[in-house]
Amino acid sequence: MSRLVVVSNRVAVPDPTGKGAAGGLAVALREAFEAYQGIWFGWSGKVAAQPSTQPKIVNRERVQYALMDLTSLDRQEYYNGFANRALWPIMHYRIGLSEFSRADYAGYLRVNRSFANALAQMVQPDDLVWVHDYHLIPLAAELRALGITNRIGYFHHIPWPAPEVLGTLPGSRELLRAITDYNLIGVQTERDADNLRRCLVQELGAVHRKGDVVELGNHQTRVKGFPIGIDVRGFEQAALRSSSHRLVRQTTAGLGSRRLIIGVDRLDYSKGIPERMESFERFLVGNPDQRGQVTYLQITPTSRSEVPEYATLSREVNETLGRINGSLGEPGWVPIHYVNSTYPRSVLAGLHRLSRVGLVTPMRDGMNLVAKEYVAAQNPDDPGVLVLSKFAGAAEQLTDALLVNPNDKFEVAEAIRDALYMGRDERIARWTRMMGTIRQTDVSWWASTFLKDLAGGKNAGRPRIQVGV
Ligand code: G6P
Repeated sequence: MSRLVVVSNRVAVPDPTGKGAAGGLAVALREAFEAYQGIWFGWSGKVAAQPSTQPKIVNRERVQYALMDLTSLDRQEYYNGFANRALWPIMHYRIGLSEFSRADYAGYLRVNRSFANALAQMVQPDDLVWVHDYHLIPLAAELRALGITNRIGYFHHIPWPAPEVLGTLPGSRELLRAITDYNLIGVQTERDADNLRRCLVQELGAVHRKGDVVELGNHQTRVKGFPIGIDVRGFEQAALRSSSHRLVRQTTAGLGSRRLIIGVDRLDYSKGIPERMESFERFLVGNPDQRGQVTYLQITPTSRSEVPEYATLSREVNETLGRINGSLGEPGWVPIHYVNSTYPRSVLAGLHRLSRVGLVTPMRDGMNLVAKEYVAAQNPDDPGVLVLSKFAGAAEQLTDALLVNPNDKFEVAEAIRDALYMGRDERIARWTRMMGTIRQTDVSWWASTFLKDLAGGKNAGRPRIQVGV
């Protein structure tokens, strides 16, 4: 039986005590690793004086975790630099924020090559290889150069932009050429699939054959939408049990008769946090009767703090928050509560369930699982309302949310008002339809659909030349 080899930048090694929250990808792969024996390969998260040439192996249940250390230069060039300062902003349509450096790009290729060298020694002929996210786009090309002909799939968790946007990034044609070495490329939405196929056609002269097949020379790859889901049952159950959690009880008591509006996002400019705060400000200014009647809780764990654009964002959020709370707050009422802590699923599910409105208004997002978690956590008899950016991948599926343009603060303010005033019957009708979709395309559906497609595809890989700087 073939094994499953998962590769991602971050590897979630389970805590031996079984405690601790599993991350999104770990939850997604749990069932897949029950069906296949497997390896999960990637960065240990550690920085060492010398880069690893062999991974450190940690065995937990059926999975072998293979962990590579990076040097501090690798982390700077590959992770902070090319992946998060050049690619991330471009993939999120932020051309103006993208900082390209040839040294960072060389570091990105170097780490991909060294991962491929170590991984090639572990891969057996029948293994299915599944690579995740933008840190590792050239990995298949590097593996092919080493003679690996296994089926290799790639899933891109973030948006894929239009050719006019991607084309502004130096090196983007080389990345596109490298991506065709995957047998199957999964993206979150039909829009992303269409964008990537257009990039391959316009930039490389590839031919888009029927459906998802793209042909470059005598080589074919497939580009297809696989919207990622959540562990719906797990989230529902966590929400049901959450009312006894101390933090949830304290929040309930602190609210009194006020209604709660919630936002949960990593601190990232793609999430539209200052813009959302300003939309809430607009709502309060336009609806003065709501002052003192609602509280907006924004939970925002910090992230990538070594990247300068993230430090700038942190300052911007703090300034916006201070200005709004200072100008609109009153003794005994703070309009926006902003916390940088990370909370476990049990607490988040409870806070979602308490909230009458879920504000998920990214400027651009691959899927945005918070939107799905908010819906899954609701009380079916009295659900809250999801206000969702039309630029989140989730908007392609959750058409019963109140869909908004996050750049239009008046529109978002109006949606907040509509959400707060929406009658129970309409809330139940919208929630029921969204919950149906979320259940049908949950996380095990996502992983098994992708893997079945990868395993069943006809085109095996072929060795090809290495990409260079
Ligand atoms: C996004 C990316 C993931 C990444 C996560 C957290 O969801 O798609 O690949 O792991 O952000 O970012 P970080 O840089 O902390 O890994």
